[in-house]
Amino acid sequence: MGYSSVIFLGLLMMFSFPVARSWSKEGHILTCRIAQDLLDHEAAETVKHLLPQYADGDLSALCTWPDQIRHWYKYRWTSSLHFIDTPDEACTFQNSRDCPEDKCVAGAIRNFTSQLLHYKEGSSDRRYNLTEALLFLSHFMGDIHQPMHVGFTSDEGGNTIHVRWFRHKSNLHHVWDREIILTALADFYNKDLDMFQEDLQNNSTMGVWADDISSWRDCDDLLSCPNKYAAESISLACKWGYNGVTEGEALADEYFNSRMPIVAKRIAQGGIRLAMILNKVFGNHKQEIASPT
Ligand SMILES: *[C@@H]1O[C@H](CO)[C@@H](O)[C@H](O)[C@H]1NC(C)=O
Ligand SMILES: *[C@@H]1O[C@H](CO)[C@@H](O)[C@H](O)[C@H]1NC(C)=O
Ligand SMILES: *[C@@H]1O[C@H](CO)[C@@H](O)[C@H](O)[C@H]1NC(C)=O
Ligand SMILES: *[C@@H]1O[C@H](CO)[C@@H](O)[C@H](O)[C@H]1NC(C)=O
Repeated sequence: MGYSSVIFLGLLMMFSFPVARSWSKEGHILTCRIAQDLLDHEAAETVKHLLPQYADGDLSALCTWPDQIRHWYKYRWTSSLHFIDTPDEACTFQNSRDCPEDKCVAGAIRNFTSQLLHYKEGSSDRRYNLTEALLFLSHFMGDIHQPMHVGFTSDEGGNTIHVRWFRHKSNLHHVWDREIILTALADFYNKDLDMFQEDLQNNSTMGVWADDISSWRDCDDLLSCPNKYAAESISLACKWGYNGVTEGEALADEYFNSRMPIVAKRIAQGGIRLAMILNKVFGNHKQEIASPT
């Protein structure tokens, strides 16, 4: 291959993969591990059954799969499902306005939840691959909780807002996808993801969030709850993500210390709510209605 075709390919790749848009793999892994630990027996068995053999029963091993395949021809249609563009400065989410034809992360959660709902009934449509539905649902429940995944249209959820993160170049979207998580891992957990996970779980079961968990789980209608999660995200994006950040700004300790608790909480919420959905979708429905909460 000649030099010019190398350059051409390089340019082609730059333009076909313009921006990264997803919780980092660490964020997705944490969300999925927290969820899997909270599954009831039946849901746990079903998840294991649906996972491909090579995942070895570990949902988190495949929670980043939707990011890996989003640019493949066959899955191109999924690449707009990782986020929501809302009108600039509106700071609200309206499904009919911001998620036409359900082609956004809230709509994707609805779609894959309803595909999985048919699993129990044994009426699942053969067009649908329920392994893929499980992986998409698990991934998108992470993404919808990343505040900047429900961001303003013109800056692509902060992707076009260049900032410095401590000493290196980054952008506002990526700060929320990954930088805050990596800095927390390095500063507080000796780069040990297991320890980060344990701290999140401790804070959920007996720590700062213990009293909030049941309200996080509240969901009367599985197919409309994603709208609530999206509204929370854009509200957080306005209050904590965009607020006070200008193009070219250097973000460091102050931004990190005030935003890290938000990132941690959103990861935990994503995991706890993913477990809630999977337990409802795969669980014994009668028992669930009968059991007091
Ligand atoms: C739902 O998912 C299926 C694939 O599983 C896809 O063909 C369909 O277009 C999706 N629907 C929406 C509204 O995204
Ligand atoms: C379902 O999707 C997974 C992941 O893409 C794939 O490995 C598997 O072969 C598919 N199953 C069917 C029955 O097509
Ligand atoms: C989580 O809580 C347990 C029990 O109190 C404790 O032993 C453990 O060190 C805590 N983990 C972290 C990472 O703080
Ligand atoms: C857990 O709670 C403690 C005490 O509020 C806090 O210092 C820590 O950052 C929290 N950890 C996570 C991961 O949320």
